[in-house]
Amino acid sequence: MATPTMDRGAEADVGIAPGLTTTQSPFIEQAQRAGQLYIQQPYELYSSSNHNAWRDLFSRMSDRWQAYANDRFLQGIDALCLPADRVPRLDEVNQFLAPRTGFRAKGVSGYVPAFVFFDCLRNREFPTTITIRDGVSLDYLPEPDIFHDIAGHVPMHTDQAFADTLVRFGDCAHTAVSLVAGIRDQGEQVRRITSVFRAMARFFWFSIEFGLMRARNGVGYKVYGSGLLSSHGEIAHAVDSPAVQRYPFQLEWVVNQSFEIDRRQPLLFYIESFEHLFELVGELEVWMRAGKLDNVAVGEPAMSEVDVKSFLDAPKAAA
Ligand SMILES: [Fe+2]
Repeated sequence: MATPTMDRGAEADVGIAPGLTTTQSPFIEQAQRAGQLYIQQPYELYSSSNHNAWRDLFSRMSDRWQAYANDRFLQGIDALCLPADRVPRLDEVNQFLAPRTGFRAKGVSGYVPAFVFFDCLRNREFPTTITIRDGVSLDYLPEPDIFHDIAGHVPMHTDQAFADTLVRFGDCAHTAVSLVAGIRDQGEQVRRITSVFRAMARFFWFSIEFGLMRARNGVGYKVYGSGLLSSHGEIAHAVDSPAVQRYPFQLEWVVNQSFEIDRRQPLLFYIESFEHLFELVGELEVWMRAGKLDNVAVGEPAMSEVDVKSFLDAPKAAA
């Protein structure tokens, strides 16, 4: 892939290059203009500010992880040997990750359409943002960055049951495609896939992104959701604050529950184990086949035309 022409090394050294910053990255803009979704990680483009942002994020999360994260996440952080002082290289992360569960982090230039995202999970590939948030705004952002994806998500992918759960989400997406493929009325087809996807997205949000697990001793909770694991403020709030409602993960509730992405979550659901989570995704698929996800409650998240198209085009892509 062609890269922007500039003296990257010199600018990176003095920290004034845009580097690979979420809010500004010529490399990403160029990849998007060229229609390139999957990209290499041009490691030399990270500026010193980018590396400093990772270092600051990592160092201030370390104590929080010890206090609030579940055991599997802490083991995953150790297993991946994530650097504390610089942005990690995806290749290095994958060297430690792939032998454990077959998962690999795969660089992307931006938003991955819904079906494509779930299909990647089915292939044990995790679409990974390579940009990092600006160092002046380290707190939770609605959009992902490499800290959210690599420090928040990927350590969980070292756990077999968790990794298998992600693959099962991918299986669900394929089931959704096959269920709507035979519907001739295109309006009805879109309505059905929108409802089913909304249910899947809500399940994903309240588990993979913002999930809690009951603590082993039965008292309190541990965090496994990446949105919490990558947020210095919200990880403690999710576990300690009396303002948060915490309920057992109930499928009938979760698939009908909307959420807002740009504020601290007032409602969270907890599971008992990752084996439990794996079974819940299996139950989601049973519900899907039974038509129980065809009319879930309206509300967030919205499904874009790109997302709908990704499902409707899937049978053609597979042919
Ligand atoms: Fe995420």
